[in-house]
Amino acid sequence: MSSLRFSLLILGLLQAVSLISPSQSLTCTSQKFTNNKLYEHCADLSQLSSYLHWTYDSSTSSLSVAFVAAPAKADGWISWAINPTATGMAGSQALVAFKDSNGSMTVRTYNISSYSSIVPSNLSFAVTEMAADSSGGMMRIFAKVTLPKKGATTVNQVWQVGPSLTNGVLDKHEFQPANLNSKGTLDLLKGESTAGTGGGSRTKKKNVRFLLSDFNNNSIFSAYFLIIIFFTPTVI
Ligand SMILES: *[C@@H]1O[C@H](CO)[C@@H](O)[C@H](O)[C@H]1NC(C)=O
Ligand SMILES: *[C@@H]1O[C@H](CO)[C@@H](O)[C@H](O)[C@H]1NC(C)=O
Ligand SMILES: *[C@@H]1O[C@H](CO)[C@@H](O)[C@H](O)[C@H]1NC(C)=O
Ligand SMILES: *[C@@H]1O[C@H](CO)[C@@H](O)[C@H](O)[C@H]1NC(C)=O
Repeated sequence: MSSLRFSLLILGLLQAVSLISPSQSLTCTSQKFTNNKLYEHCADLSQLSSYLHWTYDSSTSSLSVAFVAAPAKADGWISWAINPTATGMAGSQALVAFKDSNGSMTVRTYNISSYSSIVPSNLSFAVTEMAADSSGGMMRIFAKVTLPKKGATTVNQVWQVGPSLTNGVLDKHEFQPANLNSKGTLDLLKGESTAGTGGGSRTKKKNVRFLLSDFNNNSIFSAYFLIIIFFTPTVI
């Protein structure tokens, strides 16, 4: 009996911890979009507190994405790219969102053939349904792309945040480790994102988060349990 009480106490404590844990609000699973778009998968990217949501139809190679990140400064830019030919920035086919001079959020596409040539251009694959919005310090890019390689199940992704624009031209992002490591392989079907260098796999985090959100779901139940445990006289 006392071991049952002990288990219940542990359970209650665990749930109480999850009650105050901020982890849930910092992960993609809790993010909702004001345009009510829903995606099958999401990943907390390994760098720059960025998030990717996506739905992939491998039969048509059609990939719908929502990329969420905070720009480096309020009037900066955010970017998410597929690199069909390499793993880094050079060669990236990028979607970039920023606030236009008239104050509305815009998305532009950039063919980043090299670090020195960052000008808007068409991409090497089709992009439709481009949109962007911003709120709560975060910017979001929405788009639907047709992957260059038919039936692909992984893509090289690259993402970035920048501080500002000058006369409509993107200003350089920082070159901190987080900015340089913001790339990796995205497994479109498994919903996993692995970092290019040194980062951990998402699977473990996902399991922990699942557990926590499960507990959070029962938080009223757990509060009730704690009350029972602490206020039940020890008669058994
Ligand atoms: C802002 O400018 C863009 C073009 O740069 C235009 O497409 C958009 O409609 C403008 N928005 C408003 C609210 O004027
Ligand atoms: C980009 O694509 C559009 C539509 O496919 C085309 O009209 C336009 O000329 C292209 N622009 C450049 C610079 O190639
Ligand atoms: C992107 O830029 C590279 C280098 O200038 C060029 O070879 C390539 O054709 C461009 N891609 C598109 C889609 O314009
Ligand atoms: C809790 O879980 C149930 C079933 O899994 C679900 O229907 C419900 O929406 C969840 N509640 C919250 C607050 O997430």
